[in-house]
Amino acid sequence: MLTEITTLNQREAGAMGHSAILRDGANKVKPGAGEFAGTVGKITLADPRMSARNVDVFYGDKHAIQNVSLDIGKNEVISMIGPSGCGKSTFLRCFNRMNDTIDSCRVTGEITLDGQDIYDKSKDVVPLRAQVGMVFQKPNPFPKSIYDNIAYGPRIHGLAEGRDEMDEIVESSLRRAGLWKEVKDRLDQPGTGLSGGQQQRLCIARAIAVSPEVILMDEPCSALDPIATAIIEELIDELRENFTIAIVTHSMQQAARVSQRTAYFHLGRLIEVGNTDDIFTHPRHKLTEDYITGRFG
Ligand SMILES: Nc1ncnc2c1ncn2[C@@H]1O[C@H](COP(=O)(O)OP(=O)(O)OP(=O)(O)O)[C@@H](O)[C@H]1O
Ligand SMILES: [Mg+2]
Repeated sequence: MLTEITTLNQREAGAMGHSAILRDGANKVKPGAGEFAGTVGKITLADPRMSARNVDVFYGDKHAIQNVSLDIGKNEVISMIGPSGCGKSTFLRCFNRMNDTIDSCRVTGEITLDGQDIYDKSKDVVPLRAQVGMVFQKPNPFPKSIYDNIAYGPRIHGLAEGRDEMDEIVESSLRRAGLWKEVKDRLDQPGTGLSGGQQQRLCIARAIAVSPEVILMDEPCSALDPIATAIIEELIDELRENFTIAIVTHSMQQAARVSQRTAYFHLGRLIEVGNTDDIFTHPRHKLTEDYITGRFG
């Protein structure tokens, strides 16, 4: 039975003994009352881009993320799903230290990018947030022109030698975000004047412009209509060739469409992780099954 637990929480599981995991009639892993026996599924990868190990996050006394370990692979899209308040955004924000901006928030454990500890005291968060970019739920273009929205990051990171090089970065970023054709004749107009879906693609272009390794997306389509959503989903699939993407979504259909792996969170715990197809067709944990079949959340 313990082969079902592939996790760094073995100590915890051992302490609770086999009784922590029961099986119901449908042969599902089922937690004993109030107990957690560790993440179900493979949390480690042979060659990860980012790794989280034994991560806990507190807001004051609130223990929002509890001992979560997870690898994120190169050129993969991993989706993070789970009921509202389970800690998806909190966990996502750990990967580029966005939680540092919240006073009450304390993160413990280890997170690495290409083997380097991103919480190391000597680590500068400004270049880190270029390496690990973020796209938010609500598109948030700067109150600047379309051109300057894209050029802003490359400028502060000194990525372009002169105007020609900057023009090239702006054009290629907008092309990769699938927005070039729509905006090429209005680059000097404000980014805030675009439609919601265009603004979100502008924000993705802005993230791409600094050549990140990882893009974190927190419900990037929740403010968009189905057509704009479909465009962003297609884009995510194309971006996977060059970037690692971690996406939080409330739409299980979206997770199924865009991601190769899926992580299911519940009350601050990572309950199960696995190939997206397996999670949605053969969830191994009862809590995952309840969620994806609509019995919970
Ligand atoms: N800034 C904060 N201060 C205090 N508590 C917070 C803060 N942000 C989040 N929390 C708490 O941490 C827990 C996890 O919140 P989080 O926003 O990560 O959940 P979520 O899974 O992203 O939810 P949703 O699907 O609603 O966006 C919740 O109980 C929430 O109330
Ligand atoms: Mg959230």
